[in-house]
Amino acid sequence: MERINRRWVIADRPVGRDVTEADFRLEQGAARAPGEGEVLVQVDLLAFEPAMKGWMENIGGYVARTELGDMMRGSGVGTVIESAAPRLPVGTKVLGPFGWQEFATLPAESVQALDGDIPPSAHLGVLGVVGLTAYCGLKHVAQPFAGDTMVVTGAAGGVGAVVVQLAKIAGCRVIGIAGGAEKTRLLIDELGADAAIDYRSADLGAELKRLAPDGIDVVWDNVGGTILNTILAHLALNARVAICGGISRSKTGGMPVGPENYFNLVFKRATMRGFILNDYEADFPVARARLSRWLADGRLVAREDVQQGFENAPRTLMRLFSGANVGKQLLRLGGDA
Ligand SMILES: NC(=O)c1ccc[n+]([C@@H]2O[C@H](COP(=O)([O-])OP(=O)(O)OC[C@H]3O[C@@H](n4cnc5c(N)ncnc54)[C@H](OP(=O)(O)O)[C@@H]3O)[C@@H](O)[C@H]2O)c1
Repeated sequence: MERINRRWVIADRPVGRDVTEADFRLEQGAARAPGEGEVLVQVDLLAFEPAMKGWMENIGGYVARTELGDMMRGSGVGTVIESAAPRLPVGTKVLGPFGWQEFATLPAESVQALDGDIPPSAHLGVLGVVGLTAYCGLKHVAQPFAGDTMVVTGAAGGVGAVVVQLAKIAGCRVIGIAGGAEKTRLLIDELGADAAIDYRSADLGAELKRLAPDGIDVVWDNVGGTILNTILAHLALNARVAICGGISRSKTGGMPVGPENYFNLVFKRATMRGFILNDYEADFPVARARLSRWLADGRLVAREDVQQGFENAPRTLMRLFSGANVGKQLLRLGGDA
């Protein structure tokens, strides 16, 4: 049976400006039948990350270049609907690098069969990139100790929501920073933060002084820019500043602006260090096992924001830059647009 496969390709590069729908083009063709050792997967859910804008811009050089006309890359979960690989019979739920398309034909070894007990969406969120980033970044870079005061920016997003919860498990006092009252409420009521600051309406510096009078021991930064700069003025002695992301650069063509308060790192004998998740692959099995256990115990809540309809893929990515998403941004391909 011939299946029509729709896919979103890169039509333009959003350099120095926001991502728009016009940066993408919808194309369609026949889904390819699987050859020996391959499977045909119907994609059920796709995961979205701010880094996708950087991939379209070819910034950073830590992933392969994209070309105009390439299908947008992305991870998803789906269901095997045709199989020429005995290990993955029809009906198997799989995780894989499917890209923004409805059907993917790919070698069996490039997908991972999913454990039936865990909701498939968790493999794209709390057990996927965001959970692993939180776990590995905390373990290797932020290194929180029980009793530390920790500040998390972008705290109600995908990575931030997991960092806040793992920092609580580690015994820290956690202050989350996010945009809007809904997000600050979520941080305290659902994610267990001790305090939350709405950076859109509060005086961030004054709030940090009030909430962390002895200074901040650990900073987890997802946003960069003026928010990071303000935080750097409130460090405690020997603070660790983990640079995970710099989403505030999303409207500019270059890298996040340098923080003029960086010299406080000297006065406070602090360290500031960036990292890329890919460098910690050796930790993934243990990280997934521990995150799964905390999820099963209820100590970790998987916060997901699930949009509907394949035609909404570009708009779903744009939610990350307007701050519309709460928790990990996902898209369910079926359902109403
Ligand atoms: N280093 C690594 O290996 C690695 C791995 C994964 C992710 N990351 C990075 O981690 C960060 C978080 O990723 P995520 O997937 O969890 O995304 P996310 O936090 O779920 O989504 C983005 C959030 O960023 C905030 N934001 C957007 N524009 C902003 C601005 N101009 N200033 C301040 N905040 C802004 C918004 O929340 P508000 O409403 O609160 O503003 C938005 O909801 C990203 O920067 C990403 O690139 C790094």
